[in-house]
Amino acid sequence: MQRLVIRGEKRLCGEIAVQGAKNSALALLAGCTLCSGEVRLKNCPALSDVFAACRILNRLGCKSRYKDHCAVIDARGMCECAVPEELMREMRSSIVFLGAVLGRKGECELSFPGGCELGPRPIDMHLSALRQMGARITEEYGVLCCECPTGLRGAKISLGFPSVGATENIMLAAVLAKGETVITNAAREPEITDLGDFLNCCGARVSGHGTSSIVISGVERLHGCEYEVMPDRIVAATYMAGAAITGGELELKNARAGDLEAVVPVFEQMGCRVYTYDDRIYINSKKPLRAVKTIRTMPYPGFPTDAQAVVMAALTKAKGTSVVVENIFCSRYRHVDELVRMGADIKTEGKVAVIEGVKKLYGARVRACELRGGAALVLAGLGAQGETEVENICYIDRGYENIEKHLRLAGADITRVMC
Ligand code: EPZ
Repeated sequence: MQRLVIRGEKRLCGEIAVQGAKNSALALLAGCTLCSGEVRLKNCPALSDVFAACRILNRLGCKSRYKDHCAVIDARGMCECAVPEELMREMRSSIVFLGAVLGRKGECELSFPGGCELGPRPIDMHLSALRQMGARITEEYGVLCCECPTGLRGAKISLGFPSVGATENIMLAAVLAKGETVITNAAREPEITDLGDFLNCCGARVSGHGTSSIVISGVERLHGCEYEVMPDRIVAATYMAGAAITGGELELKNARAGDLEAVVPVFEQMGCRVYTYDDRIYINSKKPLRAVKTIRTMPYPGFPTDAQAVVMAALTKAKGTSVVVENIFCSRYRHVDELVRMGADIKTEGKVAVIEGVKKLYGARVRACELRGGAALVLAGLGAQGETEVENICYIDRGYENIEKHLRLAGADITRVMC
């Protein structure tokens, strides 16, 4: 097990280059299975989830290699349709392979992804949409057996909730399906836009991606391409929160402010100065932080649930009372108890968390329980008096590339300790 040791109360100052987006890269890697040619994914982040996705691709018979933030995938030799349980359990978002493998091979077998640290993660919308496209799906002993021997066909699909994963699975299943698929109430996240642009770069016919109505006209085949993964908007928000909680100033390179239109105003309400440019964000937090009245997590373009924990970390030291309402996941406050161990004053009841700003946080031994909550604990350590140890950092490594290196370059006293 590894842990991060942080000696707090050092201002973050300097420049951080934001990595490629994990939540886009995973969908693009699944999309590579549809391509009859080599795909080069540039700006692909070096994350354990990305390497897990590459292991799934290899298991399916694809060739994958990764070097210098470029993943090279060749799916021409794809010969398998089953994703084994041990690989599914490594990463629940492997469910995004379902639509792509079904679209490419006409069958797919994978174990139910099950719940995760954020609570139950149902896939009813994924399965209902694929059934509407002609897939026969049975579930036995936790294994999903999906087949569509005559190939998937286009359908008009209306989602009850703008699910990111369900939208991705439908897009991936539809690009080689017969006929036209229309998704209404589709997710509008920037990662959806990135997936649609990637698929079109491979010869697909996708339009409306990034809006709530996406139209996909099936084509015969997709070719390879070279594509650059979008910047990670949640990692950018995380480092902004780091500047806020340490009273620092950061310039975030390769950060797309347009993806953070619901997040930037929250930092400004906290009293930070934020300047945004096409590919950079500058944040300065010289003044004491102020509480933010209410933050409600919503589907894009609302405030992203993935930024909730890291912004809450900054709010623990913001003067006054802040209220957070987590509307997306039912168990996304597991970082709260750990923050309270550090002296934060937070009370939660159901979806609502009430944060009373405190003058000081104190270093403590804390434990990451999931990806973004773990990042929040690192930020709290940066803003705490004394030494903080964050355990279970494997969760953090799933979504943050070398977090200690980036923070150290900006002035943090943080080291990774093998134990
Ligand atoms: C994606 O998860 C992201 N993961 C999550 O990021 C992100 O928090 C989430 O979208 C929301 O933005 C990846 O992209 C790999 P959803 P996903 O389907 O697709 C319910 C991170 O930290 N739902 O939009 O699983 C579901 O239970 C991760 O990087 C159903 O009920 O999210 C949840 O309450 C965490 N039935 C809500 O919808 C379904 O069939 C949103 O889920 C599907 C979803």
